[in-house]
Amino acid sequence: MKRIVILISGRGSNMQAMVEAGLPVVAVISNRADAAGLAYAAGRGIATAVVPHRDYTTREAFDAALAQAVDGYRPDLVVLAGFMRILTDSFVRRYQGHLLNIHPSLLPAFPGLETHARALAAGVKLHGCSVHFVTAELDHGPIVIQAAVPVLPHDDEAKLAARVLAQEHRIYPQAARWFLDGKLVIEGGVVRVEGDHPQQLYAP
Ligand code: GAR
Repeated sequence: MKRIVILISGRGSNMQAMVEAGLPVVAVISNRADAAGLAYAAGRGIATAVVPHRDYTTREAFDAALAQAVDGYRPDLVVLAGFMRILTDSFVRRYQGHLLNIHPSLLPAFPGLETHARALAAGVKLHGCSVHFVTAELDHGPIVIQAAVPVLPHDDEAKLAARVLAQEHRIYPQAARWFLDGKLVIEGGVVRVEGDHPQQLYAP
């Protein structure tokens, strides 16, 4: 049986989508004790742990403690699901090729925070979300799958965020499933899925 460890910082709706998709989530770890998603995971009988970033004076020390917690669950795949800490190069290297992130934009557009507000301000007509392998560069790395949604004339940040989030909940479990099934191949920084599986989705 394959094993997924999910790192969260808050609500955990993407983590919940993975659990509800029947993926083998063995542990949920947060850098914040008050992350709402921890209660959901515990309620589903999934192991939870908190590694509070405030207990560590350097990013290196925090990431070392985090890695120790993650490794204790012997994961095949580590999933960042709204984990709002910048990871050190050494953490990223340790899990390279086994570490996925979801970002609420069509990367490489809008890395970083407040992606929906920035998409509205830029007047883009399509927005969306991306699942990618994590590299040392923030919100960057080989893209596994993307979902696009329209940006509508009367959208505000909340409406657009909700439309994107619904697609996050579709593409992230799909990407994790492909990974566990050994279907993802990275060639020259580009991800291919073995078999006839579309790596893009448009949800009008
Ligand atoms: C999601 O929208 C995710 O894409 C975003 O945080 C939210 C977490 O929600 N992640 C990032 O912005 C990472 N750069 P969730 O806790 O309900 O899954």
